[in-house]
Amino acid sequence: MVQAAPLAVLPLANVLRSLMTTSISSSPFLLAPSLAVMSVLANTTAPVLNPDKNPILRFILKKTFYAQFCAGEDAAEVRRTVESLKTIGFGGVILGYAREVVLTGAQMKDLASCGSGSAAEECVRTEIEPWAKGTMETLQLASPGDFVALKFTGAGRQALYSLSQRLPPSGALASAIDSVCQLAASRGVRLLFDAEQQALQPGIDDWSLKYMRKYNTPTHAVVYGTYQAYLKATPSTLSRHLAAAREGGFALGVKLVRGAYLGSDPRHLIHDTKADTDAAYDGVAEALLRRQWNAHLQPQTGADTTAFPNVSLVLATHNRESVLKARAIISEGKGGTEDVAFAQLQGMADEVSCELVTSDGTGEKPRVYKYLVWGSTGECMKYLLRRAQENRDAVQRTKAGRDAMRAELIRRVKSLFGFAR
Ligand SMILES: Cc1cc2nc3c(=O)[nH]c(=O)nc-3n(C[C@H](O)[C@H](O)[C@H](O)COP(=O)(O)OP(=O)(O)OC[C@H]3O[C@@H](n4cnc5c(N)ncnc54)[C@H](O)[C@@H]3O)c2cc1C
Ligand SMILES: *[C@@H]1O[C@H](CO)[C@@H](O)[C@H](O)[C@H]1NC(C)=O
Ligand SMILES: *[C@@H]1O[C@H](CO)[C@@H](O)[C@H](O)[C@H]1NC(C)=O
Repeated sequence: MVQAAPLAVLPLANVLRSLMTTSISSSPFLLAPSLAVMSVLANTTAPVLNPDKNPILRFILKKTFYAQFCAGEDAAEVRRTVESLKTIGFGGVILGYAREVVLTGAQMKDLASCGSGSAAEECVRTEIEPWAKGTMETLQLASPGDFVALKFTGAGRQALYSLSQRLPPSGALASAIDSVCQLAASRGVRLLFDAEQQALQPGIDDWSLKYMRKYNTPTHAVVYGTYQAYLKATPSTLSRHLAAAREGGFALGVKLVRGAYLGSDPRHLIHDTKADTDAAYDGVAEALLRRQWNAHLQPQTGADTTAFPNVSLVLATHNRESVLKARAIISEGKGGTEDVAFAQLQGMADEVSCELVTSDGTGEKPRVYKYLVWGSTGECMKYLLRRAQENRDAVQRTKAGRDAMRAELIRRVKSLFGFAR
């Protein structure tokens, strides 16, 4: 199943770029100053430091960090990036829109101010409409079979307020979400609603279920919710959603992640150890893949049926152990979930992605997707900063990535001189 040199499928420029970024990210001496520089670039107001206004800065960033993690600045560039990924063997991409609505501290404190009157109109015009437009453009850039990822918090204060109060989306936002879902369904693109911080997540779960019910068919998902395995409450949320899907006769779209807010969310809601999170992730994945309840995923208490609805599953993880476990279950192929995809972020864990892509496998090839954002170099800086911080928190994995890239480079040099097999 595992090929000798999975990274052989990557173009040389990618290997060199990955080696550079992973080397910086795994070196404390290089990372600290790089992060400092990036955080300045990410929120500067000075034109010389704004990559969208300073062409030299833009050129340097674009060829390095931008190319490592992002899709392109316009439709033509995005298409080229996506094509090259598909040539390597990826099933397609998960496309996100880089621009974020950034609220000031005062705006954050006064979320309810968008409630009515002229203030509400202002919120619709400056927050909801740009979000909807960006999301619709992203949908147009995606090809049938691709995914588009979206964050509800990107829609601004009204969205934040409704989510924090577990209210349904406001009228303007609801109609924007409907347009997005309708366009996705008609184009054959699937939508991933991101999971976010805990204070908003119950609201996001409600909205995810609402739109899954509305747009998912009995056999396939158009809309996927994101389920964070590190939350102790996730199995019960998932059981509740599975029961709702079963009763409502629609397929549940599940994007399973470990969870990205360890540093900021209330610690007691999250599994006590990494090992517990890992066990929860693998256990829930196994139940969904086999369509069988297990110790990690129990049917909702009082459910009159314990049967499983159809599930469309995206296993979003860079963890090689989790990927291998899931693939072992899939290869048994006994009446389990069929609509399964794997996903990793662009620029990260290429050794995991490429191992999936190049599996000479008996049986079906896993469908593998890379997640990337598109937008101007300036717009992508905030996204890049978050990636850099994440790499810092995952030094072990970043080192594994660096070592894999280094080994691949050595392998190529050797094979140039006829040493490699
Ligand atoms: C395509 C894609 C989409 C994503 N979308 C989202 C999203 O919508 N929402 C979101 O929140 N995240 C999202 N993530 C990020 C994800 O939640 C993880 O943070 C990231 O993928 C790292 O986890 P891992 O499974 O790759 O593996 P690993 O690197 O093996 O695991 C790291 C993770 O383990 C958990 N962990 C680490 N230490 C501890 C500890 N002491 N106790 C308990 N748990 C611990 C944390 O969740 C940490 O992120 C996405 C990731 C990908 C690849
Ligand atoms: C960037 O944002 C942080 C807070 O988010 C702020 O403290 C800092 O002054 C900002 N830097 C610049 C250059 O604007
Ligand atoms: C699940 O999907 C299959 C086709 O893949 C379909 O025949 C079946 O009816 C669906 N199950 C439910 C409960 O809708």
